[in-house]
Amino acid sequence: MHETLKAGAVIAAAGSGKRFGEKKQFKLLGRRPLLFHTLTLFLECDNISEIVVVVPEDDLDNTQRELASFTSTKHAIAVAGGQRRKDSVYNGCIALSEDISIITVHDAARPFVTPELINATIQGCADSDGCIVALPSKDTVKQVLGKNIQQTLDRNAIWLAQTPQTFHRDILIKALQQKIDATDEASMVEALSGNVTVVEGTSSNFKITTVEDWNMAEKVLS
Ligand code: CTP
Ligand code: MG
Repeated sequence: MHETLKAGAVIAAAGSGKRFGEKKQFKLLGRRPLLFHTLTLFLECDNISEIVVVVPEDDLDNTQRELASFTSTKHAIAVAGGQRRKDSVYNGCIALSEDISIITVHDAARPFVTPELINATIQGCADSDGCIVALPSKDTVKQVLGKNIQQTLDRNAIWLAQTPQTFHRDILIKALQQKIDATDEASMVEALSGNVTVVEGTSSNFKITTVEDWNMAEKVLS
């Protein structure tokens, strides 16, 4: 439906990996740094016409050198991120070409994304402000204060947000310019009363947050 709208990707890789213990995005997962596993899937996705990788300031030169050695016809550049994830994503968004009207945001730390999932979120933007990958909750979810359960949420209404998260450019940039911060872009678009939809993800699209997740990722690759 969006054949005329060009989609670009922002791959957020400017975190410090506090819970992991080091900058996981540059650590070798198998033969390549984690970030490059993720990047490859975006290079393979025909509906993504350009890519911005957001990395820590200190890693910018090295990343730019690495990117130059990638053989792809697709335009891929690196820019420096910021303190908060939203600052990094914002820097990535404004580095995309002017004619990009759909932006897909993805965590570098989710190396098992597929071109199909990316495409599903782009297609989902045809009739909404944004569309994200999410996973229906398998567990019953309790809202807890201290150690006391306040309420049990209706499991059928609970979806766990992943990335890619894809939005129309203007509403995403406006959302990122708001005061509020959040752990994902969808929350900020929702705060603007944007209409954001979900497409069903997979458990293999997990985020590498801890060493335990890293070990799981190594098993998947072996
Ligand atoms: N990220 C980013 N800029 C930041 C913070 C995070 O681009 N200022 C990116 C990370 O590099 C990662 C993704 O956002 O690919 C998801 O974040 P997370 O898993 O939390 O990674 P880190 O922030 O690096 O880890 P931690 O929160 O444990 O420090
Ligand atoms: Mg973080």
